[in-house]
Amino acid sequence: MSQVIQIVRTPADLRAAMAAWRKAGLRTALVPTMGALHAGHLALVAEARRRADVVAASIFVNPKQFGPNEDFARYPRDEAGDAAKLREAGCALLFAPEVGDVYPPGFATSVKLAGLPDVLCGAARPGHFDGVATVVTKLLATARADVAVFGEKDWQQLAIVRRLAADLDLGTDIVGAPIVRDGDGLALSSRNAYLSAEERVAAVALPRALGEAAAALQAGDDVAAVLDTARGRLAAAGFGPIDYVALVDGATLVAIGAPTPGARLLAAAFLGRTRLIDNLAV
Ligand code: PAF
Repeated sequence: MSQVIQIVRTPADLRAAMAAWRKAGLRTALVPTMGALHAGHLALVAEARRRADVVAASIFVNPKQFGPNEDFARYPRDEAGDAAKLREAGCALLFAPEVGDVYPPGFATSVKLAGLPDVLCGAARPGHFDGVATVVTKLLATARADVAVFGEKDWQQLAIVRRLAADLDLGTDIVGAPIVRDGDGLALSSRNAYLSAEERVAAVALPRALGEAAAALQAGDDVAAVLDTARGRLAAAGFGPIDYVALVDGATLVAIGAPTPGARLLAAAFLGRTRLIDNLAV
């Protein structure tokens, strides 16, 4: 598909474009991203198109969700390439603001949830989910879309976004879209671009360790032992540090001692300088 994509830079222009669509009786969707788009992002757009008449995407590398020693400066950026992909995917509008458009001088608000951001990735990346919650709240409040689509790869982020959208009555349905994987099983991620050729080969140990662990849990094996084995497999493949391998309730993110309906198996670990995350339903 090839059509025109409108690019807007300011929250006011995003708000006006979305309002015009609503006024025309169209059901609207938003797909928030940080760019460096791959097939996983385009699957979010496809899901949004199934649920709405018109789809807007945002590209904003949000400085508030990066720690001081993280990869904000080197995060891949390719707005022209991304805009072309979005256009081909049937996205009608791209919101691509500068940092100063989202956080003008004097910006003083932070959205902070209790509990959910303190565990898993939040424990390893203090402040990360406050940054995510702040920008996502601003995006949702500005766009006022009927639906917003987020990837299940960032499972904790999805749980946090669902919680804040419900708590603040933002009026947007939050939809999770399944993880898209490479042929060998590695979850697609913009950060996979950081992996050396050797690391890319080793990275498959992450989905494999989770897959084996999920099968063992379903077979009734002891949870602590299964998680230990998965950590061992990751370490043997060259991962380290391993931030966590955990079995949690998929909504509350509380660790559980046995698989229950909605349970999720999650892992985060470094391969060289690259932090990879993945998760599976159990
Ligand atoms: O998942 C992402 O790409 C980002 O965390 C998000 C949701 C766009 C917020 O910056």
